[in-house]
Amino acid sequence: MSSIEVIGGKQLKGELNIQGSKNAALPVIAATILNKGTTVLKNCPKILDVYHMVKILKELGCSTSWDGNTLYVDSRNAVVTAVPEESVTKMRSSILFLGSLLGRHKEVTIAYPGGCSIGKRPIDYHLKAIKKMNVTQEFIGDNDSMIHCYSDRILGAEIFLEFPSVGATQNVILTAVLSEGTTRIFNAAREPEVIEVCNYLIAAGAKISGKGTAFIEIEGVKQLHDVEFQLSSDRIVAGTYMAAVAAAGGDVVLLNTPNLHLESTVRALRRTGCVIETTENRIVIHSRQRLLPIDVLKTQPYPGFPTDMQSQLMSVLCLAEGESTIIEDIFESRFQNVNDLRKMGAIITLDNKQNKAIITGVRELQGAVVDAHDLRGGAALLIAGLAAKGKTIICDSTSIERGYEDICRDLSAIGAQTRYCSENAAG
Ligand code: EPZ
Repeated sequence: MSSIEVIGGKQLKGELNIQGSKNAALPVIAATILNKGTTVLKNCPKILDVYHMVKILKELGCSTSWDGNTLYVDSRNAVVTAVPEESVTKMRSSILFLGSLLGRHKEVTIAYPGGCSIGKRPIDYHLKAIKKMNVTQEFIGDNDSMIHCYSDRILGAEIFLEFPSVGATQNVILTAVLSEGTTRIFNAAREPEVIEVCNYLIAAGAKISGKGTAFIEIEGVKQLHDVEFQLSSDRIVAGTYMAAVAAAGGDVVLLNTPNLHLESTVRALRRTGCVIETTENRIVIHSRQRLLPIDVLKTQPYPGFPTDMQSQLMSVLCLAEGESTIIEDIFESRFQNVNDLRKMGAIITLDNKQNKAIITGVRELQGAVVDAHDLRGGAALLIAGLAAKGKTIICDSTSIERGYEDICRDLSAIGAQTRYCSENAAG
């Protein structure tokens, strides 16, 4: 099991290019099944979650290859309709193959994706919506662990989502693209990653309107065609590195940033006193003074403050001069870092009834041996380590590689003293 070592106290300076978006890549990779042809996917991040989705494509009969960050997919022979159970339970985003396999074959067998450390992650919204499209759903396997969905004709329907779920919105779109008739989604998710998968599908010949709004309409077409598509850069990776500068101090230029999709993150970091200049696809961030607290920071569906940036901002606010409150309104257990941050000297009290964390900023954190509980939590502990006095070891850091191509390479390029090490380095 790998770990990451960081020696804190170094100001960050320099330029950094931002990788392609993980949460855009995953639904687009699932969507490549819908076109009985080829997809060329540019700016695709080389991360564990992408490799996992590509492995499933091959299990479904696709052929794939890489050239740098360009992924080639040929799904002409994607005849398999069942996703291996082990593949789904290992990574829940594979549930997006539910919609694309249904759309392609009108049949799919897929395991119930497990929860993870941040929550139970159910898929009731997905199933309730797709059932309305003339799709029969049966639960099979040991203790109903698998879902078998099928239909002779997938029909367009009016879908009202009780919550603007990103995955449920994407799965309905994937199911509807090759269906008969028109599907209307009310209360759709507006995340940039929903827009991205719509852009990919439209480029391949799908008829979709309303992307990025709460009302999306999909008119079924007979087939899609080959497409070359460039993924946007990752707004959460960009936000993570901005939070690193906020915590450690310094002056950094981020290149190829998706500024339009970073509004709420930029606003939050400006509230801590960071000076941030945004031009077309560059962000310059300066952090030279003691950070200011944020009285209340609440996670919300897009365009609100993203839950995927919550852990990173918690690390930053541990160092602010005063008291901040974070309310996590999207996932039920996304305060996994609190005990690790306390080990580093942070003062945080939890009011679990409301998923509220009250952070009393301290002047300095101390390095410690901590554990990465999930992808963003692990990155957030690395941010805390950059600002802490002495050495921090983040154990079990593999989860960070799920979403960041090479976080040590990136942060070292702007002056951080950080490296991958073996577990026993914790000493
Ligand atoms: C996507 O997850 C992202 N993952 C998550 O990023 C992100 O945190 C989340 O959207 C919210 O923005 C990918 O895009 C691969 P949801 P998703 O469906 O689609 C509940 C990361 O770190 N819910 O919008 O699973 C659910 O439990 C990851 O990159 C139901 O109750 O998110 C959660 O509380 C973490 N029933 C809330 O809705 C359902 O059927 C939001 O979930 C579906 C969801």
